[in-house]
Amino acid sequence: MKILVIGGAGYIGSHAVYELIRDNNEVVVMDNLSTGDRNFVHRDAKFYLGDITKKEDLVEVFRIECAIKPFDVVMHFAAKLIVPESMKMPLEYYHNNVEGVRLMLEVMTEFNIRNVVFSSTAAVYGNPTKYICEEDDYTLPINPYGDSKLASERMIKWVCSAFNMNYCIFRYFNVAGADESLEIGLNKNNLTHLIPIAVQTALGIKDKMKVFGDDYDTVDGTCVRDYIHVSDLAIAHVLGAKYILNNNKSILVNLGSNDGYSVKQIIDEVEKYAHVNYEIVSRREGDPAKLIASNDRAKSILGWIPKYGIDDIIRTDIEYRKTLINNK
Ligand SMILES: NC(=O)c1ccc[n+]([C@@H]2O[C@H](COP(=O)([O-])OP(=O)(O)OC[C@H]3O[C@@H](n4cnc5c(N)ncnc54)[C@H](O)[C@@H]3O)[C@@H](O)[C@H]2O)c1
Repeated sequence: MKILVIGGAGYIGSHAVYELIRDNNEVVVMDNLSTGDRNFVHRDAKFYLGDITKKEDLVEVFRIECAIKPFDVVMHFAAKLIVPESMKMPLEYYHNNVEGVRLMLEVMTEFNIRNVVFSSTAAVYGNPTKYICEEDDYTLPINPYGDSKLASERMIKWVCSAFNMNYCIFRYFNVAGADESLEIGLNKNNLTHLIPIAVQTALGIKDKMKVFGDDYDTVDGTCVRDYIHVSDLAIAHVLGAKYILNNNKSILVNLGSNDGYSVKQIIDEVEKYAHVNYEIVSRREGDPAKLIASNDRAKSILGWIPKYGIDDIIRTDIEYRKTLINNK
């Protein structure tokens, strides 16, 4: 396959590029490097600096590349994704995330490219009414980020229906870990996710971390979430792209593990490496006690089976963070 990966210099997009290349595909990356890193782009991928919200940037990439060989599939990772920031800057989020997708689809139709793989999120479910999330559950996002993703999902569905195109929409749960090569991983300032924060605390990069509430109805009172290794997620993208291309069908699929770990269980796992200094503080508004993804559909349609466990997720995150310290 020849694949255009928009946002391929970011955390998840760069891992998808690595897996696409391991699977012997031809990869072109377009990214504006707003949160991505040029060094994350695999050496065998072609890179274009460009912004998805500028039609001329998209057209330039499609014009040059499709003259050589049309793309089989376009993958979209190019979003802004910080929930509190989206509450303060909703217009920027709708512009980047929704208008970016609209322009991408417009250019795809102009160049007759018929397959799109889209990164969506568990945030489209809002505050779920049940612990295990299934794809047909009600969607009611509670912030502009989640809403921008749901709006994009809907637009993709209508456009694919009108232009006889196929989509693969993936709704991710909590993504963590790093590629086994340790060449890429989650390297950002102000990380907000539990695993990297616990690892940073264990490595002494942070003094102390907060645990928001220990009085939930869970195994130990702390919130339970579903964690998925970024390389498992990336492999699902390879399978999803092949599926829609070969079957001429569209799919909407959760990517999670069907299982959950509490905050304290995650801290215990990290403590196998080093002590984690933490304090219990009051609950955060809007945090459900448990949130787990049903991955039955991903397994049955794509034959996708996550191969990394929570121990691998934490091990690769720790090893990656150590390489960052050593390379400073
Ligand atoms: N990280 C998670 O836990 C998570 C969870 C659910 C869904 N997602 C989705 O996965 C996707 C990738 O997330 P990530 O964690 O890799 O984030 P990231 O910030 O590391 O990657 C996003 C990439 O897109 C690029 N980009 C952003 N706006 C662009 C634009 N206008 N034009 C061109 N490039 C642009 C950035 O420079 C960056 O390289 C996003 O769509 C996000 O909504 C992520």
